Amino acid sequence: MPSRTQGKAINPAALHLNQMHIPHRKPPTNVPETQRFTIVSMSNTPQSAPRPQLAHLTAALDDLRARGTYFHLRVLDDQQAPVCHYDGRRVINLASNNYLGLCNHPKLREAAIAATQKYGAGSGAVRTIAGTMRIHMELEAKIAAFKNVEACVVFQSGFAANAGTVSAILGKDDFILSDELNHASIIDGARLSRAKIKVFRHKDVAHAEELLREIQLEPGHKLLITDGVFSMDGDIGPVAALADLAAKYGAIMMVDDAHASGVLGRNGRGSVDHFGCHGKVDVQVGTLSKAIGALGGYVCGSRDLIDYLYHRARPFLFSTSHPPSVAATCIAAFDILETEPERIARLWDNTRYFKAQLAAAGFDIGGRTTPASETPITPIIIGDARRTMDFSRALFDAGVMATGIAFPTVPEGKARIRTIMTSEHTREQIDRALEIITTTAKQGGIL
Ligand SMILES: Cc1ncc(COP(=O)(O)O)c(C=O)c1O
Repeated sequence: MPSRTQGKAINPAALHLNQMHIPHRKPPTNVPETQRFTIVSMSNTPQSAPRPQLAHLTAALDDLRARGTYFHLRVLDDQQAPVCHYDGRRVINLASNNYLGLCNHPKLREAAIAATQKYGAGSGAVRTIAGTMRIHMELEAKIAAFKNVEACVVFQSGFAANAGTVSAILGKDDFILSDELNHASIIDGARLSRAKIKVFRHKDVAHAEELLREIQLEPGHKLLITDGVFSMDGDIGPVAALADLAAKYGAIMMVDDAHASGVLGRNGRGSVDHFGCHGKVDVQVGTLSKAIGALGGYVCGSRDLIDYLYHRARPFLFSTSHPPSVAATCIAAFDILETEPERIARLWDNTRYFKAQLAAAGFDIGGRTTPASETPITPIIIGDARRTMDFSRALFDAGVMATGIAFPTVPEGKARIRTIMTSEHTREQIDRALEIITTTAKQGGIL
């Protein structure tokens, strides 16, 4: 191919350093050579004067304080484990998404260390430029085989997988029909796509059909989407019924299995496997950040869907891929789903026990004014945001880490303590947590 430099003499050293593109500035003469490229800060004191441009943010924070919903981030001092230390206090941890205890599994640690030794700490580029490593491809092949689909693409997070996919496969002439309690990443993806958004009542398949019927004759593509497991209430989406509806109206069917991955279906294969509706869901999203114990999100489906996302999903095109250690960790985690299914059995055993005890103690754990949980996510519904946050703080002081969740994460008036059971909690730890929750609730007038 002829180049623009054809026929001209080229200095190879200049090409190597790309000097031709660097504007050359004269170095300052009054600075010793060794210090010429040091950035000299004017002062070591942080910016302290209030910035009038940001006064509205300060006012918003003051408002949160007045409502009692301002929080500070609790800091984990050691490992994500059933008993660990946050802010220096030893607590029973009911707040993590580490469903199967894989965050600390020795095989995952070893895989991460070995991959770092072999391939280095980072991937160095976005996937489409130079950042696709053999181990990324291995992980995608592994997940595709596990989910029994043609192909898979891994994103940097579950959020990126949802937002990147919905915004890539829909355009402004299309429609998205979305459950009212779907995750924020789906909502953001829908907004980015500029498709027309229609929201159906929570798990209301008849309402979804009504909306589909209204737009039946419109020319755009239609996407029907639900969470496999709803992250704040722990109920399971009607995936099979919605998939049938999608087929009836020629809509694309998509499910977000962030909280179903590793939890529902055979060996944690997710909601499609749980409902036995293989082949009826076009786009299956999962996360690698919860039960899988590491970081990332994935999309499973047809080879063409995945090829299209390789070409058009913006987080894939414009954000650097995972370090090799993350991919190796996830590969090890999928092996464990196959070889240690007893973890999933223990998770469900603990879940049933914990739910039964909470209900027997008289707590509202969903199913009254909020959806009834069917999974290890068990909310303790309080209602009032301030009381919820106070209760969460009191639990922490008494030795239980259980996060208070209020508006805008859940609807106004539906504030709750969100608990998650894991396979690694012992019966003794669960009983002690129940004792603390019950005593603290009685002291606070919640029970
Ligand atoms: C339902 C749901 N979808 C997607 C996500 C995003 O997953 P990730 O944390 O891997 O970005 C979450 C996590 O908060 C979630 O709960």
